[in-house]
Amino acid sequence: MTRQRVSLGPERKPWVRIAPDGSEVVVDTLYDLVGSDWFDELAKRFYDGVAADSVLRPLYPDDLDGPTHRLSGFLRQYWGGPADYSAERGHPRLRMRHAPYVIGSEQRDAWLQCMATALAGGGLAPIAESAVMEYFQSAAQHLVNAPD
Ligand code: HEM
Repeated sequence: MTRQRVSLGPERKPWVRIAPDGSEVVVDTLYDLVGSDWFDELAKRFYDGVAADSVLRPLYPDDLDGPTHRLSGFLRQYWGGPADYSAERGHPRLRMRHAPYVIGSEQRDAWLQCMATALAGGGLAPIAESAVMEYFQSAAQHLVNAPD
């Protein structure tokens, strides 16, 4: 596992990598810290979890390649990478795009559980992992569109 750690700043979180010589290299974004493939691998692990989840699986199409591509592209863009998602899909408008699906607390929690498991396989330092997970918690809450 790559040694990485992050220190929390007042606004944007500065992501800090430990260079091979032991010095700290401050980068601006999570994308700069982990690189492009990390997002593909995260989305792949996430959808492996979805495939085995009885709450989430019925919401998604049979073929999970499209969803995997869209999620990794969105996350790569959100966390500071190239804007390929918007080039392909336009403005994210995630609340609107999730409107066709009933998302209550059960679906939200199942989604977050799959993502927590996927993220745990990502090799981030605990403090960086917590920062990313906090983002997912808030984003998932924002997408809840059905009362319990
Ligand atoms: C709260 C629980 C959530 C549920 C049940 C859910 C479910 C879904 C479903 C069924 C789709 C359609 C699959 C596809 O065609 O791509 C989808 C798409 C997507 N979801 Fe979620 N989602 C949730 C939360 C989130 C969160 C928190 C994010 C981002 C942080 C996210 C990002 C996306 C993206 C980027 C797409 C593709 C949108 C597009 O371009 O069409 N989702 N989601």
